Amino acid sequence: MNKPVLANSVEARDIAFHIHSQTNPQLLEERGPLVVTRGEGIRVYDSAGKAYIDAMAGLWCASLGFSNERLAAAATLQYRELGFYHTFFQRTMDGVATLAEKLVSLTGMEGGKAYFATSGSEANETMVKLAWIYHTVRGKPTKRKVIARDRAFHGSTIAAASMCGLEFMHREFGLPLPGFLHTLCPSSYRGMLEGEDEVAFVERLASELEKLILREGPDSIAAFIAEPINAGGGIIVPPKAYFARIQEVLKKYDILFLDDEIVCGFGRTGNWFGKETVGAQPDMMALAKGLSSSYFPISAVVVAPAIYEALREFNKGGGNFGHGFTNSGHPVGVAVALEAVKIYEEMNLVDHVRRMGARLRAHFEAMADRSPIVGQVRGAGLMLGIEIVADKRTKTPFDPSLQVGMQFDRLAYNNGLVARCMGDVLGFSPPLIVNEADVDEIADRVDRSLKQLEAHLV
Ligand SMILES: Cc1ncc(COP(=O)(O)O)c(C=O)c1O
Repeated sequence: MNKPVLANSVEARDIAFHIHSQTNPQLLEERGPLVVTRGEGIRVYDSAGKAYIDAMAGLWCASLGFSNERLAAAATLQYRELGFYHTFFQRTMDGVATLAEKLVSLTGMEGGKAYFATSGSEANETMVKLAWIYHTVRGKPTKRKVIARDRAFHGSTIAAASMCGLEFMHREFGLPLPGFLHTLCPSSYRGMLEGEDEVAFVERLASELEKLILREGPDSIAAFIAEPINAGGGIIVPPKAYFARIQEVLKKYDILFLDDEIVCGFGRTGNWFGKETVGAQPDMMALAKGLSSSYFPISAVVVAPAIYEALREFNKGGGNFGHGFTNSGHPVGVAVALEAVKIYEEMNLVDHVRRMGARLRAHFEAMADRSPIVGQVRGAGLMLGIEIVADKRTKTPFDPSLQVGMQFDRLAYNNGLVARCMGDVLGFSPPLIVNEADVDEIADRVDRSLKQLEAHLV
């Protein structure tokens, strides 16, 4: 990036022919892309041979790093045996049944079942469709609306983007679609009022949710969707009592709780699933990313027994579940996911993430103590955020035109570290395979970049 683009180079051809996700087209043309050529453990290398520790595991997903041999071997073996088959019209494969059984057991969705898709967005949209079927079967077909939260990210397809609570996901597209509503984000750092404590804050969040339900009509609301800890909105950990209280409101009005575990699942927050970290009890869970360490596009929805019963009942006249993706239950994705889960179990995932997460957090807390611009360190496990502010006491942010988060990202990049700013929140979600030395190295590069940012700003 920021170097001259040679004619016919990868950079030039990329600019000429490729449309990027979440990228400003003009900036791409001016600065050129970053060409990533290979990975080794927690590091990726660019075309100039420079190494970066990717402290975001790509997009919160490459939990086993970028060169896991066992995942490569599992994929190769499966490609040789059966390179493709599908799960439509009663087809299945050994791996599909095995992974479904494993996911039901790992998630603790006793008596439940798993459905496969290929992306997080598809998994979230599948949960919405299943919620509609569930209510229809129970004689409540008007229950169609979905409530999500401000600052949420749930994906890029049209319904998933409608569930996002981020303006940049809506503005070009005239979203959200009708019937997709938003309630308050449980950010105590930014959302608590003067004089309010966490208990009162949670009460207000629950009461705002209830007011929204009553305003729209409880008979029109099918589901509420949330991540246990909001990742892309800025690593927002809800207050302790939040989910228990919100779920009371949902139960009162017969509204399903859809748990987006796409980032939080598979150890990221220091438990197998984020729901355990925050004390939530979902009716359905969407899984992706860590499921295969993103070595293959595979996602899943795990549902409680009542949801499956509704699907069965709905089609008892002979119809099919009118839903499915060509690559649902793709044998290679399934093989890779089974191997990834096996590795997680062998590495004693939860314990490892808790220890490495605590170590990284302690480094960040030390930076917060000395730095005049660190407002808050937050997160859980190996999903941590640092919010940058102009004034720590008043939590006043820097002028948005300064783009301090972006400035940090650029400094980190120069220091061989991939981080990810969300506005002025710096996000860190390194591969879960980090060891003590890796964590210290990440912290060192963060500290160096932070000091450079301070020198620039203060
Ligand atoms: C919480 C959450 N949900 C859903 C998605 C969408 O997943 P995908 O990009 O695989 O569609 C993402 C992607 O980052 C995510 O972070």
